[in-house]
Amino acid sequence: MSSSSPPKPSSSSSLRSSPSSSSSNSVHSSSPSHTAARLTQIQRHTMGSSVADTIFTEDVVPQAPEDPLFGLMAAYRKDTSDKKVDLGIGAYRDNNAKPWVLPVVKKADDLLRNDPNLNHEYLPIAGLAEFTAAAQKLILGSDSPAIKEGRVTSLQTVSGTGAVHLGGLFLSKFLPKPTPTIYLSSPTWANHNQIFTNVHLPIANYPYFSAKTKGLDCQGLLSTLSSAKEGSIVLLHACAHNPTGVDPAPEEWKQIAQVVRERNLFPFFDCAYQGFASGNLAQDNWAIRYFVEQGFELIIAQSFAKNFGLYGERAGAFHFVAGPGDKAQDITKRVASQLAILQRSEISNPPAYGARIASLVLNDPALFAEWEEDLKTMSGRIIQQRKALKAELDRLGTPGNWEHITSQIGMFSFTGITEKQVLAIREKWHVYMTKNGRISMAGLNTHNVKYFAEALDDVVRHD
Ligand code: LMR
Repeated sequence: MSSSSPPKPSSSSSLRSSPSSSSSNSVHSSSPSHTAARLTQIQRHTMGSSVADTIFTEDVVPQAPEDPLFGLMAAYRKDTSDKKVDLGIGAYRDNNAKPWVLPVVKKADDLLRNDPNLNHEYLPIAGLAEFTAAAQKLILGSDSPAIKEGRVTSLQTVSGTGAVHLGGLFLSKFLPKPTPTIYLSSPTWANHNQIFTNVHLPIANYPYFSAKTKGLDCQGLLSTLSSAKEGSIVLLHACAHNPTGVDPAPEEWKQIAQVVRERNLFPFFDCAYQGFASGNLAQDNWAIRYFVEQGFELIIAQSFAKNFGLYGERAGAFHFVAGPGDKAQDITKRVASQLAILQRSEISNPPAYGARIASLVLNDPALFAEWEEDLKTMSGRIIQQRKALKAELDRLGTPGNWEHITSQIGMFSFTGITEKQVLAIREKWHVYMTKNGRISMAGLNTHNVKYFAEALDDVVRHD
């Protein structure tokens, strides 16, 4: 501040000003609005803090409920029982229920921190170019014709959530009016509903999970999408569906692609678990690569939270892929220019550190190979726990069919237990899971799987 600009008086100092000093100002301040403001000031002064003066009254800003997932995390932390089990948030844990820093991430982090050229400058609006280029190759395949033909544009985002939001915002702003509906699987990741509501996309659901088979309701899905209005958007989980752990088989993906083509729907892939489902990066991305091969114009939200264990670093990417054709590069360029404006107005430019770590690994063949091993460690341990849980339930003779524990894939299993049972297992056994009966398999380990199976058995028997 220059020495000539006077400091602004604080409201408390103006309240303390003497009558003579205020009267000396009155020549400038005798308007009705000043009188009203002065009266409010005096009223506040005389009544102390009991006078609430806000436009954000309860009917304008009602109290919102706590986020269920983060609320659950807080409740788990507060629980003092030494038996407690956290199967809530989808974050990988090691066999001692501790967060796991991937060895390759540790290595990349050390390299970065010791790099004398590292600085904390802004990234470009679209993020770190070497990161987004590597992210494209990871998701589409390094020999993807879409990349070679220059019809992909990518922006680094605030993890997968930021990419989902950017995609929603872009579609809401640029798709022809009336704004098309976005179809979400039933159920889906709870945040999808909030994000798309915030960007004013009307939401509809397509059936996904069959409570009867605890697998995919493929017929329900296809029949709903085949009656969707032309031009609607369909959000598809690329792999390791959250919350159900149920993925379409390749043949089913082909049928989905066919309906999407027939109804002229716009595919929006959310890919938060590449490498986490099967442990194989290409296999987990089969569906996206198939849709791109089929020539669809589409968008993809990509997260590096789970597969790199970079949860808090918020590393992710958004990709737009134009269909093949003469105009593809021109379309891509125009879309990129508008995405840059949206990004600039929302976050200006993305956070650097997590993307730098991922970029180092993705662009170095030796580190990449180590990362693939780390992915196998995580997905392998989860698969082991699925088998162990199923074996324990079999041993206990728990009523019901529990085949889905081993047939579902990825971070989550949708157990099929009721909300009442979920509350009972929390109350009595200190086991924390989301109300829809989803468990994060990563929270199970050789020390607690038996305990959890007994708890599950108990609440299923004593409903
Ligand atoms: C989850 O579903 O548990 C994770 O994707 C974490 C989150 O942000 O919701």
